Amino acid sequence: MIESTGLQGVSIGQTEIALVDGENGRLIYRGHDAEVLVREQRFEGVAFLLANGRLPSDEELGTLRARLAEGLATPPQVLAVLEQLGADAHPMDALRTGLSAWAALRRRDEGGDAGDAPWAIASSAAVVSDYARLRQGLAVVPADPSLGLVENYLLKTNGTAPEPATARALDAYFTVAAEHGMNASTFTARVIVSTLSDVGSGLVGAVGALKGRLHGGAPSHVSHMIDEIGTKENAEPWLRARLEAGERLMGFGHRVYKTYDPRARALGDVAQELAGEDPRLELARHVEQIALRLLAEYKPGRRLYTNVEYYAAVVLGGLDLAPDLYPATFACARTAGWTAHMLEQLANNRLIRPSVDYIGPMPD
Ligand code: ACO
Repeated sequence: MIESTGLQGVSIGQTEIALVDGENGRLIYRGHDAEVLVREQRFEGVAFLLANGRLPSDEELGTLRARLAEGLATPPQVLAVLEQLGADAHPMDALRTGLSAWAALRRRDEGGDAGDAPWAIASSAAVVSDYARLRQGLAVVPADPSLGLVENYLLKTNGTAPEPATARALDAYFTVAAEHGMNASTFTARVIVSTLSDVGSGLVGAVGALKGRLHGGAPSHVSHMIDEIGTKENAEPWLRARLEAGERLMGFGHRVYKTYDPRARALGDVAQELAGEDPRLELARHVEQIALRLLAEYKPGRRLYTNVEYYAAVVLGGLDLAPDLYPATFACARTAGWTAHMLEQLANNRLIRPSVDYIGPMPD
């Protein structure tokens, strides 16, 4: 039988972008604690930090915000492609397809440059929000240059600018989702540009990798789980039945974190601020407590704790976003990390080409 290690614990090299400290439950972006950045910065500042290694000046931040707002105008050719997908495409497929079409229009044959990060961030948000409108037969909504990226994302998706508290919650989500070390999608992006392909191709590959539910596809499953559980009394029998059937509880467990995911903690705080005494949040907290107890009972020694996707589902559930848009919204935030990694790869490039142990038969 073939052993599947999933490359656990294998380092693919060095990075200056982020540290995911799984034992101590810390996430560091270029020397800054992500939990502090959530409170003190907005997403654009964090994207600048990831790309440049330092926080922006007010002027640099203003320039980036303006550039992102401008970049939210989807070219008509890309809108035509999105329209062709019909109403029931998976938003991650729409994002992958829209980005691929948009990247082709940019005519970049290979490599990348500093302009790729703002392009990737804005074009992803534009494609997802425009597809969300088009699939309902609604006209796309132009961005408002006076608004930040997250406000514009909600404006373009819902047709109205969000309340400040709502925008704040989504901004916190974008910040904690922006970067996370050598996860599957980031590795995919780095592998693609290591061949000297272009950043657009890396982005398209990364979206494909993020789509799977073991990676970025989890939050909509968490939402369904909480909805299906429905009441506090139902939590234990429901969760126990899933574990008895050998199923996984979505929003729990992580390859690197063997303690509470710091991003889940930051988003839990934001959810509390946003929702106050909301019964859905109360139910989510209750389900979490029972799930943690049952995971310790059914999987002793596995150190399974709440991951980012659990409270991502709670925060996103408090916004006016359809659950099937959650993974694509995650992708929009992660473009900041993906592009930082692709440019870091290109700046010190060596083709990524690992080896594998052949265990098949040999010719006689
Ligand atoms: N529920 C129940 N059991 C679990 C869970 C879970 N959520 N996660 C892991 N386990 C169990 C496995 O069944 C396995 O038990 P066994 O050895 O007795 O069979 C053991 O814990 C180890 O599991 P692995 O699959 O080896 O752990 P891995 O590091 O590969 O998985 C992953 C990490 C994929 C995140 C896993 O915990 C999982 O499937 N979680 C649910 C999906 C989810 O929440 N994904 C979002 C992750 S966060 C992100 O990507 C942004």
